[in-house]
Parts: sequence; structure tokens; C-alpha cells
Amino acid sequence: MKQEFTCGFVLSFLLACSGCATNPAPGSDSAGGNSGGSMPGGNAANTPDNGPALKTAYASDFPIGTAVGAWHLDNVTDILTKHFNHLTAENAMKTETIHPAEATFNWVEADRIAKFGRDNGMKLAGHTFVWHRAQPAWLFSGVTAGDATSLATLKARLKTHIEALIERYGDVVDNWDIVNEAISDDSAKRYRDGAEGSQWFALAGEEYIAWAFQLAREALETREPGSSKGKLYYNDYSMTLKVDRVLAMAAWLKNDKGITIDGIGFQGHYNLTWPSVKDLQAAFDKIIAAGYRIKISELDLTVYSDYHTGSFKPQPMVNFTPELETQQAQRYRELFELFRANKQHITSVTFWGVSDERSWLNNEPVKGRTDYPLLWDAMHKPKAALQTILDVAAP
Ligand code: GLA
Repeated sequence: MKQEFTCGFVLSFLLACSGCATNPAPGSDSAGGNSGGSMPGGNAANTPDNGPALKTAYASDFPIGTAVGAWHLDNVTDILTKHFNHLTAENAMKTETIHPAEATFNWVEADRIAKFGRDNGMKLAGHTFVWHRAQPAWLFSGVTAGDATSLATLKARLKTHIEALIERYGDVVDNWDIVNEAISDDSAKRYRDGAEGSQWFALAGEEYIAWAFQLAREALETREPGSSKGKLYYNDYSMTLKVDRVLAMAAWLKNDKGITIDGIGFQGHYNLTWPSVKDLQAAFDKIIAAGYRIKISELDLTVYSDYHTGSFKPQPMVNFTPELETQQAQRYRELFELFRANKQHITSVTFWGVSDERSWLNNEPVKGRTDYPLLWDAMHKPKAALQTILDVAAP
């Protein structure tokens, strides 16, 4: 049953990720906003946010980050400046957004986020150079598998892209998601291949992974010698299931390619029971033993579990009852206890958003179903989980 559940959640994530390719534009209705003005649930609606700041409570542990777009800078500014000291561009640095045509960069939103970080003393995670989703068509145009000349063109395009972003944001980005989600969802395979939507792999095999890490290391060193240290991360979901293959990839990079990566990002799109703390600790232990750093890069906790029967059965929308709020707060508690216990190895903990008003989970895997994954409700009032996480830092 447990195994069924685990696999089920992976399946649910696959479905969830089917929408990632078309990450909606910030400001659009489909970007995860609850369309209506009324909010189901929301027990903490009258709770003032006058307690301590998350970033202060965790100052001696790790930076506390959140994913943002322009919407966040305009709508939850006070929460951002009070509680967070690290940012990730939710979509603005993805290749199809920031580099929509070969000769065109669209810097506007990423520049705003970088400026907000600089102005407020926050560092950023650079997300992400290479992914199977959100890649513009020009990148692969004219490239053929097995054709060395066209593959050299693909690598040169990647080099231009990586160098441009590192030059522009190298001062404020303290770690980069060099490659995102390259490991297969099929445990029998190491890499996500063309059948799973990776044009990178279909054209270049696993070589593209080595290109990306090598090019980023070189670009950082060219910009400022010594500055690449500690900054190059591999990022993925379901790390409890993928950890051995991620470490095999890191060993291949090191032994066959002479490329050392610095750390591994656990996205952290979890639910109220999966994955277990025990399984997470076991995955951390393997990564620590192999000598890599860890970051929690995209943390949120859906209240739904659409695959608990083993096949996709979308759960109906629920209200955020006091019981659910307590259960979620307890789950955040056990996760933050785990993170603190591993703080020597964890370089940041980043939430995938701020307010339940704006989460990808309001549209994935069930379009329009309200979810409650974050620390502030849809009215931007703190939920019980905020205090619980603060309590973990000050027991
Ligand atoms: C993945 C990506 C993120 C984001 C989320 C959900 O985890 O790494 O950038 O797109 O999916 O939207």
C-alpha cells in the first residue's frame, strides 16, 4: 500500500508537471491565482503578522527563500522584505521567457527581481539554464542527433545563454540550477529521454548535462576567478526516489568528464504525508556522504493526494478547515525539524511562493481547484504553519 502510494504520488507529479511547459505569464489568471474574491477556508484570516521574521529566526541555520514574479513584488512586498532573504525567479529566468529568440533577451521581469534582491540585501537562485520544459524553439532549430556540426551549434547557443545570464546577474545570484529534472521518472532508466520530452537528451544524449555544468563553471570563473565555488546545483523532484541516479550522474560528471558539481536541490513539492522524514533523511545521508551540499529549492505542501489509491482520482476541492490547517502546520514542523538537524549541509530553504492566492497548485493537477500549500492564505494572512516553523527555530 505504501509503495502504491509513493508511486501514485510520483504519477501525480508527472501530471502536475504536464503544465510546467506552459508556465503562465505572471499577472495572467492562469498563473495560479484564485479567480474569485471569496476564499474557502482561511482560518487565520484575522491573525496579524506581528511576530518574528522567518529570516531572523533561521539566521544561524540557512537563508529562507521564496519563488517570485512581478506579481509578488507588487502584491506581497511587506511579507517579502520582512520574512525572506533569498529569492528565486519563478518563471522570469527560464529560457523561453528570458531568451525568446536567438538575438533577443527579455530582461524586464528578471531585472526587477534582481534589483529587488540587491535593494533588499537578498541573494537569488538562478533558475534554470537547462530543462526539458520552457525551452524556445530557436534553441534546437537545425540541430540533428549525431551531427557533430549542428551539435556544436547547440552547445554554442547554450554558451551564449549561460554567459549572458551570468554576466548580468552574477553579482546577486549565489547559486544556479544548472540542470533541472534530467533524471527519468522511470526508475529503470537513468535519464529523461526524448520519449519523456527531453529534446536535449534526444539530440545530445547525456552530454548536454556536462556541457551545461562546464560552461557555467567557466563563465563564472571568467567573470570573477574563484567565484564559481559552491554555486553549481542539480535540481529535481522526487529526490527520495531519484537520489541514487542523481549521484550516479554526479559521479559520471566527476570521473568521466572531470566536472564537479557543488550541490543538489530537492524541489520539495510534497504533500501532507509524502515523502516520509525517514526517506528524506536517508536521501540526505547519501548526498552528504558523497560530499555534496543540499538545498530545498521549491517547497510547498499540497493538501490533496490524488493518487492515494494508486491511480489518478482527483480529490474534490476542500475548505481549509482548522483540522487541515493544524495537520499542515505539523507537517511543516517535522520538515523544518529535519532541515535544522541537517543545517550544516543545507544551503537554503526556498518556498515555491508566498500566498495561497498565487500557487501553481491552484491549477495543477486539477485546473481551478483551490489549494493551500503556502504559509500565507489567499488574503495574505499568516497560517498556523508560519508560527509552527518559527517555533521550530526557537524551541
Ligand atoms: C518545476 C520547476 C519550477 C516550476 C514548478 C511548478 O518544479 O522546476 O520552475 O515550474 O515545476 O510550476
